[in-house]
Amino acid sequence: MNANELRETHAHHVLTPWGVQGTLNPPMIVRGAGSFLYDSDGSRYLDLASGLISVNLGHSHPKVVNAIQDQATRLCYAAPSFFNDARAELAAELTKLMPWNESGRVFFTTGGAEANEDAVKMVRMVTGRAKILTAYRSFHGSAPGAGTLTGENRRWVNEPGIPNVVHFWTPYPYRSPFHTDDPKVEVERALEHLELVVNYENSSSIAAILLEPVVGSNGVIVYPEGYLQGVRDICDRYGIMLIADEVMTGFGRTGSVFGHTRLGFVPDLITFAKGVTSSYLPLGGVMVRESLASYFDDHALMCGHTYSGHPMSVAAGVATLRVYREEGLYERGREIESWLRAGLEELQRKHPVIGEVRGLGSFFALELVKDRATREPLVEWQGKSQGPMPAFYSELRKRGAHTFGRYNVVMVAPPLTVTRAELDEGLRALDGAFASLTVTA
Ligand SMILES: Cc1ncc(COP(=O)(O)O)c(C=O)c1O
Repeated sequence: MNANELRETHAHHVLTPWGVQGTLNPPMIVRGAGSFLYDSDGSRYLDLASGLISVNLGHSHPKVVNAIQDQATRLCYAAPSFFNDARAELAAELTKLMPWNESGRVFFTTGGAEANEDAVKMVRMVTGRAKILTAYRSFHGSAPGAGTLTGENRRWVNEPGIPNVVHFWTPYPYRSPFHTDDPKVEVERALEHLELVVNYENSSSIAAILLEPVVGSNGVIVYPEGYLQGVRDICDRYGIMLIADEVMTGFGRTGSVFGHTRLGFVPDLITFAKGVTSSYLPLGGVMVRESLASYFDDHALMCGHTYSGHPMSVAAGVATLRVYREEGLYERGREIESWLRAGLEELQRKHPVIGEVRGLGSFFALELVKDRATREPLVEWQGKSQGPMPAFYSELRKRGAHTFGRYNVVMVAPPLTVTRAELDEGLRALDGAFASLTVTA
């Protein structure tokens, strides 16, 4: 098939996630190398989204590609009930990254949604409690269970969903649900609100609170200092487990190994996916502190998937973690952060449509507004229309860069291997795309 026939075939025979199928017109990506993607017409795009905030090593890192090739010649699949060498090696490497003053264990899944669902099952089994509290403006996956945990409109199609999931509000300084501009007051009120929810939901029926350490696809919202530590304290007061959803924030994205290491709090379980293999192969999992994991020494662990700890994926994971270590990538986000913050704030000075620049590590978002004083969103959050955003992303691609966003939020999260020159190229493309963005009242 030639490129046009392939486009037609894709449009007519592939159902693409999250989109109104008739309106889609993305490039046909055929190759990736480093920070760039290449399409079937030979155009190249700087990947300012790291895939789905997940290709942390950039595209086709040769060391990981080689490891996948080697594993394929040795063993493509073994049932998860067997022990496996690569799986043991990856679990040992992940254990070294755990934050506990005790050991821990890993349960492997195929991706992030399954990881969150399995974490929920585990805390329900261990505590004998049923309720799970999660935040509004969160995303935890699209399968029905993880979709119920999600706190925005991607949950709605799952409703009524799984029972015993309750949502609460978390800090969002730019649009405070707690009616304050003072981050300290925001934290106090958010924690007071959470504790009220905990009490009114019957604290002794709550198994866990599940949170993204930095809110990801709902706008890269960095919680003000003290909030996550305060959530930890509430969990301790009521015997509630704290699950950190590190699917997007894990493996160097925030300028530290994990979001919780950057933000200074200690969860009881950690879910991960994406960056563990730089997304080269599907893999996720749950890290569980030893004092909880040992519960399953004499109780059956009622979780399992055909691809749990898939040998190809875990081999990719071992190689990926080695590259993070060898190339100092867990910390590299700090350097990218300083470049990105300065570059994006410069764009904000030029383009009034950029209401707020926020983020950390290699994980930033631009929140777009019609008017900086009123903060009226350029596109209504969870509304039906995407307004000028599809045209903006298309213009950005014409200028040689790609990213994605949701409603009035544009993600800027390049791979951890991005160079300064590449980043400058991306900032110039963003500058041009913002210059052509039409803002209508
Ligand atoms: C924070 C968070 N949790 C969970 C998920 C779901 O992961 P997956 O798509 O691998 O199921 C995502 C995906 O973007 C995510 O950002």
